[in-house]
Amino acid sequence: MSADATPVIEVSAINADDIDALCALAALIWRAHYPAIISAAQIEYMLAQRYAPHVLRAELVRDGLWWDKLTVDGHMRGFCSYFLVDGGEMKLDKVYVHPECQRRGYGRLLIERAAQGAREHACKALTLAVNKHNGTAIAMYRKQGFEIVGSVVKDIGAGFAMDDYVMRRHV
Ligand SMILES: CC(C)(COP(=O)(O)OP(=O)(O)OC[C@H]1O[C@@H](n2cnc3c(N)ncnc32)[C@H](O)[C@@H]1OP(=O)(O)O)[C@@H](O)C(=O)NCCC(=O)NCCS
Repeated sequence: MSADATPVIEVSAINADDIDALCALAALIWRAHYPAIISAAQIEYMLAQRYAPHVLRAELVRDGLWWDKLTVDGHMRGFCSYFLVDGGEMKLDKVYVHPECQRRGYGRLLIERAAQGAREHACKALTLAVNKHNGTAIAMYRKQGFEIVGSVVKDIGAGFAMDDYVMRRHV
């Protein structure tokens, strides 16, 4: 293969064999992106809460919840998860792209995958919550057609809270 060969980009379901790579990628992205937004202690707390292997294993077999990966030439470079919520909506719970691979359209592909899942389950909208200080993600979501429709503060334990905007787009 020549050095300038077009990379093969694929979006597919995450399975149990991907959990180690998923944990490593999540930790890399969170430790690179979130120090400007939340404390180091909260980053480690939330990584443990959301990306512990046993948590991921349980989510992979949960009905109405999906995890997908984006691979570039077979290497995981992004991921997303989304789940059905009451009221005919799909919640985009996570969307993350490796810092060295951002602004290449991968986040858009992952969001489109979640939007496709929403349509397949007769959902009218995709919703998400994003930290109010995560300006780059908010700008990206706006470009993908999301609008801020509210805000929510959630106690996540250990003295930490999430202070988020709620965003929504039709699918
Ligand atoms: C947010 C994130 C998932 C976006 O993924 P990405 O691959 O960089 O985004 P894309 O390249 O697909 O960009 C999608 C669109 O948003 C726009 N966009 C992306 N980043 C942007 C930014 N910082 N400012 C303005 N617009 C932006 C792009 O121009 C593109 O617009 P287009 O579809 O009109 O061309 C990624 O940057 C990321 O993982 N960030 C760190 C973690 C994070 O905050 N995740 C979200 C948690 S709620």
